Amino acid sequence: QPKAFIFDLDGVITDTAEYHYLAWKQIGEELGIEVDRELNERLKGVSRMESLERILAAAPRPLSLTAGEKEQWAAQKNAVYGHLIETIRPSDVLPGIEGLLKDIRNANMLLALGSASRNAKVVLERLGLTAAFDYIVDAGQIRFGKPHPETFVNAAEHFGIPCEACVGVEDSEAGIEAINGAGMFSVGIGSPESLRQAKYLVSDTSRLTLDGIMEAYRRDAV
Ligand code: G6P
Ligand code: MG
Repeated sequence: QPKAFIFDLDGVITDTAEYHYLAWKQIGEELGIEVDRELNERLKGVSRMESLERILAAAPRPLSLTAGEKEQWAAQKNAVYGHLIETIRPSDVLPGIEGLLKDIRNANMLLALGSASRNAKVVLERLGLTAAFDYIVDAGQIRFGKPHPETFVNAAEHFGIPCEACVGVEDSEAGIEAINGAGMFSVGIGSPESLRQAKYLVSDTSRLTLDGIMEAYRRDAV
């Protein structure tokens, strides 16, 4: 029986993964680089600056930007993203998530949020879900972003629970790699093409149930 769940935010609790994509797409257009959905799969879960680096690496002709120029593009992306999340409301919580959080709580397991986003607390607040989590892994506490396991290990250590007794829920390739690297049970939301390393995979949040996860967790443990 697991003792704690660690949820990613963007693309798991609410569809802000789409807003990150739209914001990067706009920045890409200004830079003359096409940010399509395939490239975006490799941006999900990755920090702001690393995302910019990956976009720059996809440029048709190499662009040499100074560190200061990169900071400006990253800040501009965040400004676009900031506008997109202004209207987020409690009704934007993805289907099935509130019920799942309640079921986890009723089963006396702990809940953490593990997001690398510096906007995570604002988004959670606008969704009305801040109180639903026992602990939030803040981007400021983390030295190494996903796919490094630190985000997830940090939550387990905070709870004093071994990683094997934790379940991580993610929509990104980098996030699943981080959960597996931490030695936790990984639940993926998305397509098998990008999330084939997930121990348990569903196509969207409406298909997530505590029973389904628990059954898969037990099967994996034997
Ligand atoms: C999450 C998202 C990424 C985003 C990162 C940093 O991991 O999945 O798409 O780049 O957070 O977010 P921020 O809001 O700080 O730019
Ligand atoms: Mg995500």
